[in-house]
Amino acid sequence: MSVKIIGTGSALPEKIVTNDDLTQLVDTSDEWIKERTGIGSRRISTGETVVSLAAQACEKALENAGREAAQVQLLLVATCTPEMGIPCAACQVQSLLGAANAVAFDLNAACAGFLFALNTAYAYIEAGIYENALIVGSEVLSKIVDWTDRGTCVLFGDGAGAVLVERSEQPGILGFVQHSDGTKGEVLKCDSRQLKNPYISLTFDSPFVKMDGREVFAFAVRQVPSCIQEVLQQTQLDAGDVDLYVLHQANRRIVEGIAKRLGVEMDKFPMNLDRVGNMSSAAIPVLLDELNREGRLQEGMTLVLSGFGAGLTYGACVLRW
Ligand code: UT7
Repeated sequence: MSVKIIGTGSALPEKIVTNDDLTQLVDTSDEWIKERTGIGSRRISTGETVVSLAAQACEKALENAGREAAQVQLLLVATCTPEMGIPCAACQVQSLLGAANAVAFDLNAACAGFLFALNTAYAYIEAGIYENALIVGSEVLSKIVDWTDRGTCVLFGDGAGAVLVERSEQPGILGFVQHSDGTKGEVLKCDSRQLKNPYISLTFDSPFVKMDGREVFAFAVRQVPSCIQEVLQQTQLDAGDVDLYVLHQANRRIVEGIAKRLGVEMDKFPMNLDRVGNMSSAAIPVLLDELNREGRLQEGMTLVLSGFGAGLTYGACVLRW
């Protein structure tokens, strides 16, 4: 018995914002952004929400898998930018989809969120609790970005990506590793609502993303290769046995650094961040869906997925397509 991805889908906001567009907002240049990050443009919401994007991505994943919404047993939304505190985004998506038989809840592990949700679904299915799960990473990061901070506003984009996984007799997910390091939480953070009640009122710092980019960069290039090695060891594979590495899309130089440490050629690291930027939990499933729809994923291929980000959180998964 295994747990296999049987469908993918994604949805992006309509508005494309180029690097040149951002030069109207902050002191930056297309040259700097491309050279330091590999990002050329990103999609930014002008009305699309975490829930509407997630629902669209889920509909496409269901269609791709040939399944109906009513068949879904578990619906997980990975997000760090939900519209509402309550109800959770997953319940709102459930309602839009008509996935009336699903148990729905959210999970927040920032840029590793999709991967952690995939693992959660895997554990539920492995344990025999559910037969299938719809997992979506959806973000409208433009809500929490400080559009006056050139160090962060050039990096992020909005979007959603989804997969449907199902119990299968065919090989699917082969192994998983996950890690968290809460002691480094300060390097990438965003405040939420503060404590304010009749007995106390705390003042806000700022409800926008703050990041020590160099620290996050160093963490990613150091920890991601070692966690990929860990999952390869667990599944008795070598880095060279992997057909494609589908990594979180944060920065082209991070991906290059990881490839170098693993000793793997860059052509095994597909990237789309030039067109979509860093979409946090949506990055991996959107890239996976693009590869799927382009016909680049052949049955039997070995893939490594790896996500990393705020928390700090990071993890990797090996699967057979
Ligand atoms: O999903 C995980 C979330 N985040 C990440 O993965 C981000 C990881 N970090 C990074 O990708 C990189 O650290 C950044 C792209 C954020 C920054 O690149 P860097 O090469 O580490 O640049 P830096 O922060 O060391 O800044 C170098 C210079 C500074 O100027 P000075 O002090 O040398 O005069 C910055 O002020 O570049 C300046 N700078 C900019 N210049 C033009 C920073 N942002 C910009 C900008 N345009 N947008």
